[in-house]
Amino acid sequence: MVNDAVAYAESQRERFLAELKELLSIPSVSTLPENKADSERAAQWLADHFAAIGLDNARVNPTEGQPIVTADWLKAGPDKPTVLIYGHYDVQPVDPIELWDSDPFKPEVRDGYLYGRGTSDDKGQMFIHAKALESLMRSTGRLPVNVKLIIEGEEEMGGPHLDGFIIEHQAGLKADVAVISDSHMLRPDQPCITYGLRGMTYLQIELTGPSRDLHSGQYGGAIYNPIQALCEMLASLKDHDGHITIPGFYDRVRPIDEAERKVLAASPFSEEDFKLEAGVPSLWGEKGYTTLEQITARPTLEINGIWGGFTAEGSKTVLPAKAYAKISCRLVADQDHHAIADLLEAHIRKIAPPQVSVNFKRLHGGQGALIDRNSPYMRTAAKALEQVFGNPPVFTRDGGSIPVVATFQTVLGIDTLLLGFGLSDDNLHSPNERFFLPNFYNGIQAMIRFLSEVGK
Ligand code: BES
Ligand code: MN
Ligand code: MN
Repeated sequence: MVNDAVAYAESQRERFLAELKELLSIPSVSTLPENKADSERAAQWLADHFAAIGLDNARVNPTEGQPIVTADWLKAGPDKPTVLIYGHYDVQPVDPIELWDSDPFKPEVRDGYLYGRGTSDDKGQMFIHAKALESLMRSTGRLPVNVKLIIEGEEEMGGPHLDGFIIEHQAGLKADVAVISDSHMLRPDQPCITYGLRGMTYLQIELTGPSRDLHSGQYGGAIYNPIQALCEMLASLKDHDGHITIPGFYDRVRPIDEAERKVLAASPFSEEDFKLEAGVPSLWGEKGYTTLEQITARPTLEINGIWGGFTAEGSKTVLPAKAYAKISCRLVADQDHHAIADLLEAHIRKIAPPQVSVNFKRLHGGQGALIDRNSPYMRTAAKALEQVFGNPPVFTRDGGSIPVVATFQTVLGIDTLLLGFGLSDDNLHSPNERFFLPNFYNGIQAMIRFLSEVGK
């Protein structure tokens, strides 16, 4: 049965790729209002596709934002486990477009990589599941387990409508385990299971000084410039050891115990490669932690953007009324993103000089997650990955965020297997995003093996 499905998948490589290219050519950029119709088109394309490969109840569920696609196949019977598959069909914007070597929405293969926006994050990885299900269905007439699919269209903008949908439909989404392919492996021959993701809180600060922009000659010298105040405040949020100075910020951070330090230290993560990939001459981070710990198991605070005053060509002698910054924190289990946003706001209000007033806009937030490394599903997944890639998977934490993992834990009470098939140099969110094609086909095979084993 497994062999038939694998043989089917091998025989359909060209068609699978052609179908993926079709999905990739729909510019479903969730954050841009002008792409709203494209999101709807991508959702409909997926629902049609799920129906065509033999899944039941394939549906486009409207939300106040981008629609959520669901489908299922529950005919394996009540004695078989149910696997919930999540993915996202939305993609990041493409700018700066001039740095792309090919059209981001005209996917093309070069040197074994498929290039285009969403190839790795996440249309290509999500499509692995559709093709594994199709291969099992077409070659054996059924699936070895019950499956439910939930594919959202707002992941890249903080998923404002997904949690509500999951809470509302929790009975229908009940499952034994969730699977997500939206992360990466360490090398093409080194699979990896991610057991931790960071959470996030994102906010915008607006500082107001004088009631309007002023002449810097007439007023300069006696006015607290809000851009200066903002810079001073932001600079004080970290000390020279890279620690965040907000009182209470670390209170709930789950410490990295010795066993886990060993797991992370065993990862063949290369600091040298990381430095090269990032294009920096040397690294800078929180003292007392390895680079891998810093980027996966420790919380961060980053200034994502800062603006105000006069920034156009030429010069203008202005003393600005306003200063703005966008800042976000990556959080780790068990930090709560609402609580951290509260702390951050309170601290910034406290350190703001009396000459300015502060306003906040909370942009989005999501909880981090840690997953049990020793569940039976983990072992089954590890076996499937080893069979296909030739090496047992490395267990690692990832620094990125997939907030639905925490929602699955709290609302549905299930853990998620994060089986990533991307590579760290896939250029996610960057120009020339790509997907290593052998991973697409190996991923399909790994999922065929995993689902078959779970069904035994
Ligand atoms: N797939 C990524 C997250 C990711 C990347 C996990 C690499 C593990 C390894 C996801 O699409 C993403 O970009 N998430 C955003 C979430 C945010 C907008 C709430 C992120 O991490 O910035
Ligand atoms: Mn993603
Ligand atoms: Mn992403």
